Amino acid sequence: MSAKAMGAWAMRVDVDAADMPFLHLDAVSFAYPGFAPQVRSLTLSLPVGTVHCLVGRSGCGKTTLLKLAAGLLQPTAGRVLLRGHRPCDPREVGFVFQSPTLLDWLSVRDNVLLPVSLQRRPQPADVRAADALLEQLGLATHATRYPRQLSGGQQSRVALARALLLQPPLLLLDEPFAALDAITREEVQRDLLRLCRGRGASVLFVTHDIAEAVFLGDRVSVMADGALVRSFELGRDHGLGTPAFVAACTQVREALGLEEATA
Ligand SMILES: Nc1ncnc2c1ncn2[C@@H]1O[C@H](COP(=O)(O)OP(=O)(O)O)[C@@H](O)[C@H]1O
Ligand SMILES: [Mg+2]
Repeated sequence: MSAKAMGAWAMRVDVDAADMPFLHLDAVSFAYPGFAPQVRSLTLSLPVGTVHCLVGRSGCGKTTLLKLAAGLLQPTAGRVLLRGHRPCDPREVGFVFQSPTLLDWLSVRDNVLLPVSLQRRPQPADVRAADALLEQLGLATHATRYPRQLSGGQQSRVALARALLLQPPLLLLDEPFAALDAITREEVQRDLLRLCRGRGASVLFVTHDIAEAVFLGDRVSVMADGALVRSFELGRDHGLGTPAFVAACTQVREALGLEEATA
């Protein structure tokens, strides 16, 4: 190939890379063997550094969709692309499940270090990274405790720290704060935004809580029956209780088919 042609090729790759969404689900469908499809020709693009919240009723396919995005399930049709490739490197994806899934017999610090210790013996730098995350999440003094000695909110923070340890560019969060009281949930939501924005992480966040979706999401999509029925671009000026926040919550409620309460 001539130098000129090489140059043109390199430029095209750069342009394509810049245009390429970080995570792209292209007409993805999925059916558990012997069952009707749980995800139906769903297309979704997640730009770098953004938070996309999926809100929908229980059973509409949210967890299945996250597992497809993580590469834990393979689509029966369509394709999932992470930076243009099939997701196959677990270090690229941090997953937080609905229940914190901490290991009872490991200390808080060792739970956070788990993604490393599954691969190799943790080094001092790994321990420093774990402790720094615990510090950022207000758990510096809890590193040697065990999960049973933590509150629900603290356990959620440990699960978040564990998912962030390897600095994955993509975080997939499956109703991670559903079991928390409203005050703690708000605190952990703010922690999540601060940490993800600080690291430029891209986040797909599943919830059935409309206010949570609107507070966290740069974009909110309503999911029903395995498909995205509507998406809202919110930007970042929708702090809790502001008119923009209330208006966005109303729109999402309507898209979910919920009636406004009458006086
Ligand atoms: N392993 C499975 N085999 C068959 N059906 C499943 C399996 N896991 C989930 N489902 C079904 O797929 C649908 C979507 O499940 P899920 O993605 O967990 O929903 P959500 O997270 O929105 O509550 C549900 O109807 C559920 O019963
Ligand atoms: Mg679920």
